[in-house]
Parts: sequence; structure tokens; C-alpha cells
Amino acid sequence: MPETWTFHSAGQIILGRNAVLRLGEVAEQLNIKRLFIVTDSILVQAGLVDRVRTPLTERGMVLEVFDGGEAEPSLRAAEACISQGRRFQPDAVLGLGSGSNMDLAKITATVLTHGGHPRDYVGEFKIPGPILPLVCVPTTAGTGSEVSAASVLTDMDNEIKVGVLSNYLRPRVAVVDPLMTVSCPPKVTADSGIDALTHAIEAFTAVDNVDFPISAGTRSVYQGRQPLADALATKAISLIGGNLRQAVRHGEDLEARAGMALAATLAGLAFSNVGVAAVHALEYPVGGATHCSHGGGNGLLLPFVMRFNLPVRKAEFVTIARLLGQDVTGLDEQAAAERAIQAVERLRTDIGIPLRLRDLGVRQDQLRSFAEKAFAIKRILRVNPRPVTVADLEGILRAAF
Ligand SMILES: NC(=O)c1ccc[n+]([C@@H]2O[C@H](COP(=O)([O-])OP(=O)(O)OC[C@H]3O[C@@H](n4cnc5c(N)ncnc54)[C@H](O)[C@@H]3O)[C@@H](O)[C@H]2O)c1
Ligand SMILES: [Zn+2]
Repeated sequence: MPETWTFHSAGQIILGRNAVLRLGEVAEQLNIKRLFIVTDSILVQAGLVDRVRTPLTERGMVLEVFDGGEAEPSLRAAEACISQGRRFQPDAVLGLGSGSNMDLAKITATVLTHGGHPRDYVGEFKIPGPILPLVCVPTTAGTGSEVSAASVLTDMDNEIKVGVLSNYLRPRVAVVDPLMTVSCPPKVTADSGIDALTHAIEAFTAVDNVDFPISAGTRSVYQGRQPLADALATKAISLIGGNLRQAVRHGEDLEARAGMALAATLAGLAFSNVGVAAVHALEYPVGGATHCSHGGGNGLLLPFVMRFNLPVRKAEFVTIARLLGQDVTGLDEQAAAERAIQAVERLRTDIGIPLRLRDLGVRQDQLRSFAEKAFAIKRILRVNPRPVTVADLEGILRAAF
């Protein structure tokens, strides 16, 4: 039973409009001469790579761009990125883009430093020491990968997402510029935004740090709920409640984009110390089999997992309902807590997240195996406030079918 908690972050966070203009200064402080930029072709076309390139070349950095990033990146994409990086021999790596590209940058910096294959690092604490300096510039407001300790890849052979988890994966610098998210299409805005909401809700309702089910002497990056993360997660929930609909409908609204960029980073700081829970565990097999977006899968599953967790987290659900703008005056605790689920369901519908697993092409006969695969992801499931069995997970999936 842990009695202390720690809090880890990116080494430095630079957040605000035009933050990317500070990249040259960041690279100089880190003494970077050769920088490997990991991104994708959509962001090259959107002109976002040029926005990052200019302040760096002005300071004389030598740059190489890998633009083969893909959504929910496969281990194969990671291998391609690593082999281009090996030829270039950078002294630092910059992840530019969605969670997918930042995660590719993380695993690339790891393998370029310590050798081997991405698969060698799957799991917790497999990275033996510090990695090449990593700078992350998110172009979606969602994953929090710019501050997190995770790199998530897709294992195509086994149809499941796999996670590399280590505090060495936290970027040295996170440069969060909401202007970089303005070109995000509505679907990407919605999916990544509800991913951030899932991070905040799973962190705020997680098992308490003092009850974290881990034996003495065992380490975990995720440590359960603690007060610093609560402060970050609750702020993130209210920012998302106030800004996500607007960011999806009116992508050019800079206030909404700024609110979401801040929310995603705050939620990232919270979940990357507390942990994510049953929603994420269930999304791994669902996403692995259907190739739905991570955020879309989470958004679909979130209210169903909330309903399962409600009996043990009523007070927190009442808080979430309020943070999402619900008037709960005069309601008893049960009814007020249920308002949190209704608010999430309404938000999910308003921004066009799929409502049922069958809408993603899932078949009923797949549900048991999804539940079994999710049950195997112990490091996530132990964060859930209510202990879960395979049958519980199957029940949640059936409700969501
Ligand atoms: N490392 C972590 O802590 C962590 C946490 C949560 C999720 N993830 C992972 O992150 C991935 C999801 O990332 P995501 O939600 O950011 O989206 P995504 O990676 O699915 O990106 C979706 C698409 O949006 C495009 N795009 C991104 N920004 C754009 C912009 N500004 N303008 C135009 N197009 C843009 C990308 O090119 C991509 O094609 C998943 O693989 C998930 O498992 C990682
Ligand atoms: Zn997530």
C-alpha cells in the first residue's frame, strides 16, 4: 500500500499562442545541432511542419523530417521511422502532430538511444535509462502525450494496442500552441477532445493512492488518485465542458482552441501520474480490432464504464456533473451522480461520437475475447475504482454493443 505519491511531468511546458516561435531558443538551450522531426504527410500539407522548421533553421539547426507517421501507429511504422533516424544520427527528436506522431517520436528516441526493437520496450520500466532529448509539439488537443510517460503502438499481428510506459518517455520540453490545432478537422477535434475528457474523468475517479492495489516493493508509473492530479483533472473537465462543442463546430474559434489545448495538457499531467482505467483497457482491444480512433472508442465506452463505476464514486460524479454545467440542486446523490453520465452522453452525441460498438463494425461474438484481452492489461485495470472481473468487462461491452 503506497503512502506517498510522486508527480512527474515534461521538464518544461511552454503553452500559449505562438509558442512554436520559441522552438529555436528551446533547441539552443538543449544544445541541439541535428534534430529529427517525426510527423506525417497531412501536417506537411497543412503547413505545420514549416511553422516548426522556420524558428529552428533560423538558429542553424540541421533538420531531417520523417513524414510517414500514421494514426494509431503500427510497430512497422515505428521501424521505418527508426531506420531513417539511424541514418541521420540526430542528437534530439521532435514529435510533431497528433498523439500518434508524438508516440512514434518517443519510441524512436528510445531505440536510437538504447538499440533493439520497439517490441523490447513494451510494458513498464523496460527502458534502462534516459533517452535522446525529446521535444513534443501537439497539433491535436487530446492525448496529453506531450507530457505523458506513454507511447502507444498497434501490434497488427495480435490486433491490440500495446503500451510502452516509462518516466524516461516524458518529453524534455512540451510546446503547446493552440494555433497548431486550428486546422484540425471536426472529427479529429471531437475524437481527441473526448479522449482528453476520458483522461480527466478516469484520473479524477481512479482508485485512491492509499488503496492502490500493488504489493510492497513493486513499482508502477501509475499510482492512483492524489490531490495535485485532482486539481488538474477537475480544471480540465470544466474546460472541456465549456469548449469542446465550440471547437468542433467552429474550429476557427481561438478561445475554444486555447481552452482545449490547456485542458488536454492538464488532463495529460493528471492521468500520466494517476493512471487511466477500464475505459482505456477496453478501448485497446476494440481499437486493435476495428481501427476506430482511440478517442472515438474511448468516447463510446466512457458512459458505460461510468455507469459501472458510479456506485463507488458517487460524490466525484456529482462534482463532474457540476463541472460539466449540470444544475444538481435539490437532487439526491444518486440522481445528481447520474447527471454526470447524462452530461457525457449528451456531449458525445453533440460532437458525433459513435454511440454503439455495432456502429464500429464490432460483432457480438467478439465481445468475450475483447473482455479477456482487456482483463490482461493489469497495470491499467488496477487503477479502476471498482475491481473488475472478465464477466464485468463483458457486461460493460454488452451494454455498449
Ligand atoms: N502517449 C500517450 O500518453 C497517449 C495517450 C492517449 C492516446 N494516445 C495515442 O494517441 C493516438 C491518438 O492521437 P490523436 O487523438 O491525437 O489523433 P490521431 O493520431 O488519430 O490523428 C488523427 C489525424 O489527424 C491529423 N491531424 C492531427 N493534427 C492535425 C491538424 N492540426 N490539422 C490537420 N490534421 C491534423 C493527423 O495527421 C492524423 O491523420 C492513438 O494512437 C492513441 O493510442 C497516446
Ligand atoms: Zn487516451
